[in-house]
Amino acid sequence: MVKTCLIKIKETIDYKLLFQVAEDLVKGALVGMPTETVYGLAANALLAEAVSRIFTVKGRPQDNPLIVHFYDKNQLLELIDDLPENFTLLYQAFCPGPLTMIIPKAKDLPSVVTSGLETMAVRFPSQRTARALIKLAKVPVVAPSGNLSGRPSPTRASHMLDDLEGKIEYILDDGPSDLGVESTVLDLCSDPPLILRPGVISKEDIVRKTGLKVDYCPDIFLAAEENQAAIRQDEKVDLDFKPRSPGQKYRHYAPKAKLLIARGKDEKERVDYILARADQLAGKNIGFFGSELTYQLLKDKLAAFALEGKIAAIEASHLYPGPANTAAATHELFFALRFLDAQDVDIILAEELGQGDYKTAYMNRLERAAKEE
Ligand code: TXA
Ligand code: MG
Repeated sequence: MVKTCLIKIKETIDYKLLFQVAEDLVKGALVGMPTETVYGLAANALLAEAVSRIFTVKGRPQDNPLIVHFYDKNQLLELIDDLPENFTLLYQAFCPGPLTMIIPKAKDLPSVVTSGLETMAVRFPSQRTARALIKLAKVPVVAPSGNLSGRPSPTRASHMLDDLEGKIEYILDDGPSDLGVESTVLDLCSDPPLILRPGVISKEDIVRKTGLKVDYCPDIFLAAEENQAAIRQDEKVDLDFKPRSPGQKYRHYAPKAKLLIARGKDEKERVDYILARADQLAGKNIGFFGSELTYQLLKDKLAAFALEGKIAAIEASHLYPGPANTAAATHELFFALRFLDAQDVDIILAEELGQGDYKTAYMNRLERAAKEE
């Protein structure tokens, strides 16, 4: 057990205090670090023992490599001789910001960082505390999302406390993450460059701003296809969820409850989709995540259904104002999964949002969280 020190970052950053944290980080401490995407678990990338500890405390599979975070391009150039093709174009368009680029590995980087791969993932976060910490530490910093492996990524300091208190030295609380979903991962070692993980910087943004031809790696749509196939083969989505022991069955971003995606192109279709499954939902504790507008429609229709004894009321909900919209849904998704889990619901209903631009990132996380595996 280590004592976890929670530090609230004030409106004006206390650099003296942050300098102490940076010094400890350089020596091997693990630090919960806010970024513009989600909170990360930071360690000195050049210290193999500190990096190994990250895998241990998160329960992360050894074959899942980490992202190395830098203050800027000059700091990266202390580790490598040349920048790969297309790097500068992308850097100028999107960095600092939520873009991770896969490039050839620097030889001085411990192999535990890249899980033995010949490539490394690099990112330049824009969040002020992350930037200040990396600048003061003067070392590259690895930072996977700061959750226990398989759980939803943390978008609040409190989520990191829930998962890692007593296992890491510091958590820096700089309020809710701006975006709520992890960075776009773009592989520059393939031709054309491939998006390995969709994020707020979309394929469309990259094409628009750089003129580069990029593609999605087909893997990112697999979970969606499996979920859709399960639904097509009748309502074989198994709603009898039993709690799983951690790591036994690995669902990414997974809440403990079963997640059911309310599919449809608009609020009305999504509500009808839920009502069409009333028999399967009967007798369960239900949680809802989505827009106020959809919730209102659902509640109105549920009143009639409840009279027929088909569906219980919604036990708990996490809503954002107005109609369904991508920025709000993305910002709140991981918060909602954790919040509704804490209310001990059996099933979480969450709204589909379609594809294109950063809807693709939202849907990718949702499909993975809903995946039966
Ligand atoms: O927004 C983010 O990227 C957050 C914040 C904290 O920066 N970090 C994050 O890290 O999401 P993590 O470890 O949860 O996800 C890193 C992803 C994984 O899917 C990993 O497999 C992939 O990046 N990755 C890392 N190095 C790679 C490499 N050399 N080749 C291919 N994929 C790599
Ligand atoms: Mg992660």
